[in-house]
Amino acid sequence: MTQVLEAGAWEQFKAMGWELNTLIQPSPNALKDALAESDALVSMLTDRLSAEVLQAAQAAQGGRLKIIANHAVGYDNIDVQAAHNQGIVVTNTPGVLTQATAEFALTLILNLLRRVSEGEALLRSGQWQGWEPTQLLGSSLAGKKVGILGAGRIGQALGQLVHLLGAELAYCSRSPQPAFESQTQAQQMDFQSLLKWSEVLSLHLPGGADTFHLLNAETLAMLPKGAILINTGRGNSIDEVALAEALQSGHLGGAALDVYEKEPSVHPALLSCPNTLLLPHLGSATVSTRRAMALTCLQNIQAVFAGQPAPNQIPI
Ligand code: DGY
Repeated sequence: MTQVLEAGAWEQFKAMGWELNTLIQPSPNALKDALAESDALVSMLTDRLSAEVLQAAQAAQGGRLKIIANHAVGYDNIDVQAAHNQGIVVTNTPGVLTQATAEFALTLILNLLRRVSEGEALLRSGQWQGWEPTQLLGSSLAGKKVGILGAGRIGQALGQLVHLLGAELAYCSRSPQPAFESQTQAQQMDFQSLLKWSEVLSLHLPGGADTFHLLNAETLAMLPKGAILINTGRGNSIDEVALAEALQSGHLGGAALDVYEKEPSVHPALLSCPNTLLLPHLGSATVSTRRAMALTCLQNIQAVFAGQPAPNQIPI
């Protein structure tokens, strides 16, 4: 219903002979109207599918909508229980964006540690006077203590990458990950121990009530002085005001964020913080990944219309 971003996948949707209705950043009312006339929705993470929107859409057409194929691995934009109650299958795109997102988290870590953006800003400002032995000295990832908060697919993939670069690893997750531990020598820790241990903490948490403001003034204070925080998961895991204070006070050495609590708004307090990289939700943004995400949506829709279980149905 909203856009399918990649031409290869778009062509395949058309080849199915389906009538396509594309909405860009629809308002809740536009979404309700369009949903009432649709059998399937390819939603973006920016589409808020609340119980109210879903009920209104189903009431208007007596339950025509069969599937919401979310073009994302996260699905905190959808009230999955409400969809289930309306007989609508909800699917996501796990797996296909793991490597791209892990690579992006690694990019952010290395950028902060080696002060890449600061260096570029210095050069573009015209202030660079030439090579100096103590200019913009950073630190190496090798030997750093990297904590992974949320060791699902993406957290583990980042763990594999930083292990190869010589970092020490620990993780906090709902369940132990023995294969990950033996591949990377990562040790499992509880949440508070991980905070106290991590010189670099990377968040890979789902959105939602359980993770809301997990990183707040109290928990940020548990990180070692000078630690850096990376978030490529969901913005509302962090209390952005508390983070800005921890950066301004110098308790944290830096932060790199790809996601925000109220996207596309970025809390103004973050904009003036030192050592802070702010990216516009680019974690999975490679051509091949976005194609794979769109094709995963297509496969899930095809399965539902063929009367089969959707491969990536979100369980209730
Ligand atoms: C997701 O898939 O949940 C990411 O945030 C966007 O690719």
